[in-house]
Amino acid sequence: MATDDDATSDRVNSVDRVFKKVLDAVAKTAPEIREGLPTRRAKVETENPSGETPLAADVYADELLCERIGDIEGVGTYASEERPEAQTVGSGLSVCVDPLDGSSNLKPNNTMGTIVAIYDSPLPATGDDILAAAYVLFGPTMTMITAYDDTVTEYVIQDDGTYQAIRVDVTLPDDPTVYGFGGRVADWVDEITEYVREIESDPSMKLRYGGAMIGDVNQVLTYGGIFAYPTLADAPEGKLRIQFEGYPVGYIVETAGGASSDGHQSLLAVEKDDLHARTPVYVGNESLVDGVEAHLSDDD
Ligand code: F6P
Repeated sequence: MATDDDATSDRVNSVDRVFKKVLDAVAKTAPEIREGLPTRRAKVETENPSGETPLAADVYADELLCERIGDIEGVGTYASEERPEAQTVGSGLSVCVDPLDGSSNLKPNNTMGTIVAIYDSPLPATGDDILAAAYVLFGPTMTMITAYDDTVTEYVIQDDGTYQAIRVDVTLPDDPTVYGFGGRVADWVDEITEYVREIESDPSMKLRYGGAMIGDVNQVLTYGGIFAYPTLADAPEGKLRIQFEGYPVGYIVETAGGASSDGHQSLLAVEKDDLHARTPVYVGNESLVDGVEAHLSDDD
């Protein structure tokens, strides 16, 4: 007779399988996305749900990933920043994708990446529903960071889509050295400006801001520090989207021993009822993220 323990172990096995299949699909697709970049640098005609005009490369990456991830047994829903609605592709878990994070870096040939989050819930999900997250970074090498089962791992992806672990149990270094805050400085609220000036006065901290969240977060995971796309005077929710960017990076950085925040609470505690909702994002070493919350609580 099947017991509750059997059901739990079946469930874990099936989540393990879907996670592995999603990673395989993302790693297999990454070299193709990269190869397709040089000829897809122009903007398309239609805006995405966030009111931005994507590049042909964003659309290409989204189509490839939708096809590959949508084919995986156990994936029920595919959603991406480029599509207004979530797509039903089968039955099972929900996968949210930012196909090409930081694609404005394509023209100047700088870093960009692909972000994936797996949720055990219909969309929009909450931070409690996240089961795993990963991102690929198209830099001098192609790497993939994954967070699953309390562990963060870094892989290198080869041109044939195979991938090998190069760092296991990745944790944020204890002594942070880098910081990067997005948005126009003139649009920052006073509390953020004051806090950044404080960070800048610390001789051990260096500015690192590349304009692709995933590249900037990877600096923080590697060297320790803080990345933020903060609340802005004319855009209190900032720019980044909770389902596609906030939850996955919050989950990855927290799993690596760091902290995440929307300015007042962990990103994983944020609840929004719109698939494309935005949130301020602050991730990094706990002491630095605590500093943001302390500054912003002054005006509560
Ligand atoms: O997804 C949006 C994004 O490209 C992020 O990767 C990045 O952090 C941000 O926009 C950059 O915005 P800005 O151009 O305003 O610095």
